[in-house]
Amino acid sequence: MKIENPKGTRDFTPTVMRDREYVEKTMSNVLEGFNFEKISTPIFEYSELFELKSGEDIKNRMYTFDDKGGRKLCLRPELTASVARMFSNELRNLPKPLRLYYFGPMFRYEEPQKGRYREFYQLGVELLGVSGVFSDALAIYAACECLKRLGLEFELQINSLGVVRGLLEELGVDDKVSGKLITLLDEGKREGVKEVLDDEIFERLIKISGGKKSLGEAEKVLKGFDKALAALSELRDLAILLDSAGIAYTIDFGIVRGLDYYTGTVFEIRVSGLGAQNQICGGGRYDNLIEVFGGPKTPAVGFAFGFDRVCEALILQSKLKPPEKKVVVVASVSGKSDGYAIKVAGELVRNLSESEFIVDLDVSGRKLKKTLEQASNMGSGWVVIVWEKEEKEKMITLRDMEKNSQKTVT
Ligand code: HAM
Repeated sequence: MKIENPKGTRDFTPTVMRDREYVEKTMSNVLEGFNFEKISTPIFEYSELFELKSGEDIKNRMYTFDDKGGRKLCLRPELTASVARMFSNELRNLPKPLRLYYFGPMFRYEEPQKGRYREFYQLGVELLGVSGVFSDALAIYAACECLKRLGLEFELQINSLGVVRGLLEELGVDDKVSGKLITLLDEGKREGVKEVLDDEIFERLIKISGGKKSLGEAEKVLKGFDKALAALSELRDLAILLDSAGIAYTIDFGIVRGLDYYTGTVFEIRVSGLGAQNQICGGGRYDNLIEVFGGPKTPAVGFAFGFDRVCEALILQSKLKPPEKKVVVVASVSGKSDGYAIKVAGELVRNLSESEFIVDLDVSGRKLKKTLEQASNMGSGWVVIVWEKEEKEKMITLRDMEKNSQKTVT
């Protein structure tokens, strides 16, 4: 009986996993270099954790179920809410700011297509207990540095939700309509905005996009809207910081993010050529979420990479090149030397574990000639050959595959 994997999920073969491990390790190294520490939270959670603040879109896409005890659970669709919960329950008394990162599968009931899955992976970062654009800039810098370390070319877009929300508030637009507008913008349906809110100033604002000059354009459009202007001034500060830090960006007042908890800076990273699912990273500031889970008022900023999309982008740009491992093959010539072969292989693994070598003990029982052929096919540079006699003498025969020569050594 052939059973397929569920729609929107994938199996990862050893070759694919090698690439993915390399990407994960490279990004983790950057984040750990910036003193972010790894955490892990449950794959399933109480549904209300995400229903409270993650937003309608996520709520509608959640995998929810009742367990045998009648608890309302769901597979996690994202991790910011889980981290906020963990912080409120366990980490609130630690010195701040707290730098955390995570990696793992998330689940959303989506229509699967290239770059969009029902089970997908995120590598995310949360910086908790600090407000202001300095920490926003660090989060953005860390995200960009992860991608640069991998050699990926990308585009960063920044905005402040404070500008957009500030204007809507000052225009007297109610929360429901604002929510609708944010969803439309997040889905890229800018043409539908006019039907929900026919306002010239708002229309003009969300069309502004470009370099630092767009801040001046927005300032003119927002004249008299003091809340929006205050947020704009913060966005200008962020832009100045990013300039000094050497980060290229576009300001786009139509970038709003689909999740409900964002309060200030928001940003997205895109890679061209990926088609419709070209957003490889999204994040922003969320200063009110932790209170929702009973924690003290704690400002925070974070982001998550769509890990699968990062890998796809690297393939697209021919940048996915994990370092090759060198294989040492261990061959036992007769059945009587098999135990010794295991011991020798074990000793090699113990001694070579920190280097780029891996040990392949041939347990097939095939003839030595075949093992050597196999080793050559694997691109192995060295074969360790053991005989019964060598066990007694505590020796091995080391064959240099390139020179086609061998010698017996201790
Ligand atoms: P998000 O924008 O919903 O944000 O997801 C972050 C990234 O995950 C997206 O930019 C995208 O690359 C990827 N992604 C989302 N859905 C899918 C899918 N169905 N298949 C493949 N990739 C997908 C968040 O989840 C926030 N928690 C990010 C954050 C952290 N904000 C602050 N801290």
